This record gives sequence, C-alpha cells and structure tokens, in this order.
Amino acid sequence: MDAMIHIENLTKSYGATPAVRGISFDVGKGQVVGFLGPNGAGKSTTMRVLTGFLEASSGVVQVKGIDVQKNPVEAKKHIGYLPENNPLYEEMMVEEYLAYVAHMRGLSKEKTPKAIAAAVERCGLGDKRGKDIGELSKGYRQRVGLAQAILHEPDILVLDEPTTGLDPNQVIEIRNLIKALGTEKTILMSTHILPEVQHTCSRALIISDGVLKADGPPSTLSSEGTTIALTLRARGEVKGDGVLQLLRGLPGVSDVTSTPTTERDAQAFTISAKGDADPREALFDAAVDKKLLLLSLERRSVSLEETFRKLTTSEASPSTSKS
Ligand SMILES: Nc1ncnc2c1ncn2[C@@H]1O[C@H](COP(=O)(O)OP(=O)(O)O)[C@@H](O)[C@H]1O
Ligand SMILES: [Mg+2]
Repeated sequence: MDAMIHIENLTKSYGATPAVRGISFDVGKGQVVGFLGPNGAGKSTTMRVLTGFLEASSGVVQVKGIDVQKNPVEAKKHIGYLPENNPLYEEMMVEEYLAYVAHMRGLSKEKTPKAIAAAVERCGLGDKRGKDIGELSKGYRQRVGLAQAILHEPDILVLDEPTTGLDPNQVIEIRNLIKALGTEKTILMSTHILPEVQHTCSRALIISDGVLKADGPPSTLSSEGTTIALTLRARGEVKGDGVLQLLRGLPGVSDVTSTPTTERDAQAFTISAKGDADPREALFDAAVDKKLLLLSLERRSVSLEETFRKLTTSEASPSTSKS
C-alpha cells in the first residue's frame, strides 16, 4: 500500500493537557476513511496537525512521503482541508472568495479561472457564483468549503465534521458530493455521528480520549461478535447471582450483563459471545439442567453503535452489574 497519509506515534498537548496521545495509522490511495469519535476525542487536533496548521508535540506526520512538520508548504499542496465550522468570508461573493483562495495558494493568474470553474462545477455551485457567501444556506456554504478545498486539485481531502449542523436534506447532498469526490481522491473525514461513516466510508478509525480504539471496515466493526438477549425465570436451586455465575461459565460466553426486565419473577441478561461462537445450545442445555425457564432468547449482531459506545465510554464496566 502506498501511504498517502502516514501518522506515527503522534502526540499533541495544549500546555499540560494531552489531546492526542500517541496515535498511528496509514491511509492508502483512494481510501475514504471515517475518523469517528465523541466530542473532545482529538479528531480536530489530529487533522490540524496533519494539515500543517498546528505543530505536533511529537511523532511523524507525512503526506505522500512529505514530512508535514519539516515541509508544510510542500505538503499543503497535496491536501485540501475543510476545517471544523467551515470559516468563510461572509461578505465576499463565492467567485471572489475562490479567487482569493487561489491567490493565497499561489495558483497562477492563467490557471485560476479554469480551477474556479472546475471546482464550482464539481460542487454544484453554478448558479451561486455571484452570490454573497453570507446569503447562502448552510448546505451551500459547505459546498463552498469543499470547492475551496479542491481548488488546487489536491489528491487528499481532510474534512472536519463536514455534515455537522446541516439539515437532513443538506446532509444527504453533502454526503453524495463527498462520495463523488471519493472516487478520485483519498479522504479522511471526521464525524461524531455514526451513520455518517456507514454511509460514506469504507474504513472507520475510532478515536477516544486521544487514543485509537478500532480500525476496520464499518461492516466488520459492526459485526464483531454477537450478543444474546435472554430473559429467564429461575425455578430450581440456581437463582439470583448464581444464574449470572452459571451463564458466565458456559462455553462460548465472553461476558454477561444483567439488564432490566418488566417480566415478573424474571431475570434478563445480555450475553456476549466469544468470537464466532454461538452459545445458544449450551444455554438451552444449562436451562434444562438447572430448571431455568427461558422466557425469551434473541440473537443479535453487535451494531456499530454498540461497538462505538463500548470503545468510547470509559465508565462502562459491563461485567460488574448486579442482578
Ligand atoms: N486550542 C486548544 N487549547 C486547549 N485545549 C484544546 C484546544 N483545542 C482542543 N483542546 C482540547 O483538546 C481535546 C481534543 O479536542 P479536539 O481535537 O477539538 O477534539 P474533537 O475534534 O474530537 O472534538 C479536548 O479535550 C479539547 O478540550
Ligand atoms: Mg472537532
């Protein structure tokens, strides 16, 4: 894999506060990667360092083999960046703004009109060229943000929460636009919204508290193991906490949590299976053996949302709840 983005042991602290605490990952050519994590996880900080707008505390950051910290000007030529909250000059017209950006990026006078025309066309801004940015809807403002990002025809796009704050229709439009751009470009896109990743990305990186917690296709992250939702009524000697202990000891079971139930004289559990194991047969056998009446039993795959919650909530301690 030719790494378009290479990040190795990156750390970044603001004063004494660590925001990114040693993360490493590579992004290959053409990948559309979702950078997923709760607010404050360190997504924007990572992206600001990657785009050369912030200095790392330590670690290596390269785009197309160019060291961003040693050679930010050269590196920036290959990166289009849509910062968080998409800061724009409200009082400028779309075309004027793009011309200004082109000038700042050092595009020549001859190349500029063509570059603007291409970006405007690509981002569906044709009839907004002469409008003041301040008059545009949030969805169109994001298009302008994307247009400025692609103006100098970079291979890599770094998009920080590109759909946050948009209404549902605008979200779909911007998503589709990003998807279309993703057919030609390598994209790293941050979001704190899960479905965003499932819709747009072929790979998800989950970051929490400045640390990478998972890396894989959204589909594998969402099918990592299965859980069984179980409700039963204990009618034999094994009851109360004993049931929890019994379930935990069954083959194929990695973890058991008590869950609330409205069923009378019943206990409910969420049982996580080990890897590909299906502990249902062992469950049936144990239930017969120990006189446990199974009131309901349902096997589900773990959703990306559950994986996300599990990886990003530090207070979660699934194996210590009482029955
Ligand atoms: N300019 C800053 N000065 C001090 N702390 C900051 C600054 N920017 C971000 N932080 C802190 O760094 C952590 C990571 O923030 P950020 O990278 O913005 O996370 P995310 O984009 O995932 O929401 C947070 O704890 C945040 O409060
Ligand atoms: Mg952020």
